[in-house]
Amino acid sequence: MARTSRKANRRHPLATVVLIAIGLAFTGGGYALFSSTATADTNVAASQATVEEGSKLFAANCATCHGMNLQGTEAGPSLLGVGAASVDFQVGTGRMPLAMQGPQAMEKPVQFTEEQTQALSAYVASLSPGPAVPTDSEVAEDGNATNGGELFRINCAMCHNVAGAGGALTEGKFAPELTGVESKYIYEAMLTGPQNMPVFNDHNITPEDKRDIITYLKYLQNNPSPGGFELGNLGPVAEGLFIWIFGIGAVVALTVWLTAKSN
Ligand code: HEC
Ligand code: HEC
Repeated sequence: MARTSRKANRRHPLATVVLIAIGLAFTGGGYALFSSTATADTNVAASQATVEEGSKLFAANCATCHGMNLQGTEAGPSLLGVGAASVDFQVGTGRMPLAMQGPQAMEKPVQFTEEQTQALSAYVASLSPGPAVPTDSEVAEDGNATNGGELFRINCAMCHNVAGAGGALTEGKFAPELTGVESKYIYEAMLTGPQNMPVFNDHNITPEDKRDIITYLKYLQNNPSPGGFELGNLGPVAEGLFIWIFGIGAVVALTVWLTAKSN
């Protein structure tokens, strides 16, 4: 305690720098606040016409499996409470409408236009509320990649691999590769937890943390390997072990060669 107060009284040479940094953070924060409220406004509520179009599309393409009132059937789960985010994710990535039964819905060429997908989402959300499609500012790729990387290693790497390269799960299921996935779908996957993936709601991982994870994944995508050999991105321990074994091996070989030569 006494130590910190003594420190505080002394004017540190970096004080000016810190002051400027605080000033910049405030201006930046103010700007972020302003721009996020601006984009929220453009996210207008779905109109009645959109919901009606969605209702028709749903009846023709989805109701056989999910039921006309979203109650579900033998062929598909209930969609009550899944929200617009889940529909946008499933239809937008081409997983739905499901083509064939299997361990996991596969990604296929997307069958609906963006407008139709929006209509389907609006229809499902109109019958039963659930997580909404994230706004543009929520999925911006300008978060903190370091924090995102840490969260990713704790929450996602066990299924998706530390480098987001994907991995096999049990019963023929798999966690897909995450590079090349649109930010919006990364956010929606966390929010809705497709298949075996857990739901990461806003209490588990806050919207800011989600944005940090997205930023990290986009960083990985743009900087696949920061240098050196790529050893499947096994991490510093395995890569260190590689150097250790081959490095020591080379030293041993050299020693043997030298002794053999001197004899
Ligand atoms: C042939 C049957 C079938 C059709 C047609 C179909 N689905 Fe599905 N749907 C399923 C099955 C089975 C699952 C669960 C499998 C999975 O998640 O891998 C599912 C999962 C979903 C989910 C995820 C639910 C959740 O818990 O988050 C959504 C959303 C969804 N479907 C929407 C749609 C929409 C919208 C359409 C029409 C464009 C559609 N589905 C067409 C069978 C179907
Ligand atoms: C228990 C394993 C598991 C964990 C943990 C997990 N996921 Fe997943 N994830 C999956 C599976 C399985 C799928 C495929 C679902 C499907 O195809 O229906 C998936 C799908 C996704 C997708 C969609 C990819 C695509 O190609 O459309 C994204 C994005 C994603 N996960 C991100 C994350 C993030 C970010 C985390 C951590 C916050 C995470 N996942 C944690 C298992 C997991």
